[in-house]
Amino acid sequence: MLPTLSDHDIIAELLAFHVEAGVDIALGEEPVDRFEETARERPAARPAREAAPTAGVPNGAPAAAPVRGRTPAQAPAPPTPAQSTPAAPAPPDQAALEAREAAASAPTLEALRTLLEQFEGCPLKQTATQLVFADGNPAARLMLVGEAPGRDEDIEGKPFVGRSGKLLDRMLAAIGIDRTSAYIANVVPWRPPGNRTPTPQETAICLPFIRRQIELANPDILVCLGGPSAQTLLGIREGITKARGRWMAYDTGTRSIAALATFHPAYLLRTPLGKRMAWRDMLAIEARLAAPAGQNEHTPQ
Ligand code: URA
Repeated sequence: MLPTLSDHDIIAELLAFHVEAGVDIALGEEPVDRFEETARERPAARPAREAAPTAGVPNGAPAAAPVRGRTPAQAPAPPTPAQSTPAAPAPPDQAALEAREAAASAPTLEALRTLLEQFEGCPLKQTATQLVFADGNPAARLMLVGEAPGRDEDIEGKPFVGRSGKLLDRMLAAIGIDRTSAYIANVVPWRPPGNRTPTPQETAICLPFIRRQIELANPDILVCLGGPSAQTLLGIREGITKARGRWMAYDTGTRSIAALATFHPAYLLRTPLGKRMAWRDMLAIEARLAAPAGQNEHTPQ
């Protein structure tokens, strides 16, 4: 005979199922039935889908998402009273445009942080606990940029404070560096739910902010931690195993900074064999930092 499960067991199993599926935060007090919500919206959405395609809106894509900052002539019809969930963020293109304008307007890192705190264009902000802007010394000569915060970073509001952060600290300590002599940030400053990879749209929306952050911090050396950071910031297409350890140029728009990609510490936790290569990268960073002032502008090698 099968054992009967108590309500407690059923709830515990359901919670375990959700955690395994990557759902580890509650977004609201009350559950929202998205199926029912979609069914309610469908009749209104159909005519828009059947209409001629709008510029920039792929055929068949929902056409009526609310857009912030539109001119009155373009404004969509007022929302129906039935809408109870928060307004959807701007479409990615619009959000990326707003991000570019906002980031360019920041004269200092503090202003940039404030602008990011006020920015509503990235959907990840809605699920993250808080902004994870940076840690360390913004005047440091070395800046390291990861992909996106994880659970521990989301709780503490600082990048690289979890297990991979502890390993990063040990790697840096091996070449005499701590967080007073390094500045650390991420390409995406909000934690993606369940630590999933940020989507290309989310990355594109956040890119102007991290680019401005690098420009304002103005380090001598930029280190991309992991493939996604290197691909986003250095524009490379190859994987990290090929790209790591090679000095490249990062162009801020006003200056060319020596940049290096290395393995992400989370990868090294899973693949300890990679530490040998990472150690070489650390030594290359140490040597470059020791080079006489003025020799850290990127020159091809
Ligand atoms: N991984 C990242 O890329 N960034 C963090 O801040 C933590 C883990």
